Amino acid sequence: MLRILSGIQPTGTLHLGNYFGMMRPSIALQDEGDAYYFIADYHALTSVHDPDLLRANVRGVALDFIACGLDPRRCCFFRQSDIPAHVELAWLLSTVTPMGLLERAHSYKDKVARGLDASHGLFAYPVLMAADILLYDSALVPVGKDQKQHLEMTRDIAQKFNDRYGNTFRIPEPRIGEETAVVPGLDGQKMSKSYHNTIEIFAEEKVLKKKVMGLVTDSTPVEAPKPVENSTILALYRLVASAADVQQMEQEFMNGGVGYGDFKKRLFGAIWEYFAPQRTRRAELERNPDEIDRILADGAARARQVADVVIERAREAVGLR
Ligand code: ADP
Ligand code: TRP
Repeated sequence: MLRILSGIQPTGTLHLGNYFGMMRPSIALQDEGDAYYFIADYHALTSVHDPDLLRANVRGVALDFIACGLDPRRCCFFRQSDIPAHVELAWLLSTVTPMGLLERAHSYKDKVARGLDASHGLFAYPVLMAADILLYDSALVPVGKDQKQHLEMTRDIAQKFNDRYGNTFRIPEPRIGEETAVVPGLDGQKMSKSYHNTIEIFAEEKVLKKKVMGLVTDSTPVEAPKPVENSTILALYRLVASAADVQQMEQEFMNGGVGYGDFKKRLFGAIWEYFAPQRTRRAELERNPDEIDRILADGAARARQVADVVIERAREAVGLR
């Protein structure tokens, strides 16, 4: 059975980039194999330093994921810190990881440039991520394009370990959805919390509308035809509207006579409608707070069964047993 694994950091509210880049592809895969999805709370300690906020974020992301269609009966859904073997394996892997490999990581440099503390944890983040993946003998890892280098590092680290200690880990494959590889944000750059250009999928109606209306456009006058290529409005509309509606909007862009304000209103309407079922499910779940605890406890018990076997294999390989 194909082993699938992915993780998401509990660092804030879910946006369209997270949803189309990682969440939706992961959820679509839950029936294609034996899927393990986890909330990466150890990782989040590199940026979230308020314990109450971390706890609230974990709960929030669990609600988001389930509301969006993750089904805890069809996959294993758990919290990373319920399985401390992630950290033990990270240490074992760190002893085969060349410094040069970590020094080449873009994400560390980007995050420090954006103001995160340059801690050892942040620097060693890719090693913990490798541990997450290798601990479950994962074959397939669905993530957005920005995680590609981390996946390559995981493969390198697993290979180094296997070369030194004999065949211990399965080398995983990334799965990057090319059609939604990078979702643009309100300013046209990659949508990301750190760029303050996000559209939150569970925002309140007024807030969502205001955000979408604030999307940055060029100054083409209402009457004139508008460029279809590189249009953020169209890129986002394609994700949430029907093929017929998209074709209609493209035609109106080319014809001219309709202003960006109108297009943005339509984009807002399509986003609001697309996430209506998810909103309803999230509200239902919120009324039943114990349910999330129960789901995560059950997930942890199942995850542990796999993790225990693999960590034992790794301990034996290095001579700790
Ligand atoms: P952010 O950039 O907002 O901090 P994260 O780094 O926490 O988002 O990303 C969580 C997941 O969502 C990752 O798998 C990442 O690849 C995916 N993702 C985030 N932003 C985008 C985007 N704009 N387009 C596609 N995928 C994205
Ligand atoms: N690094 C990922 C992110 O920032 C989250 C993550 C941690 C992850 N461990 C993972 C993703 C293992 C896939 C597999 O989004």
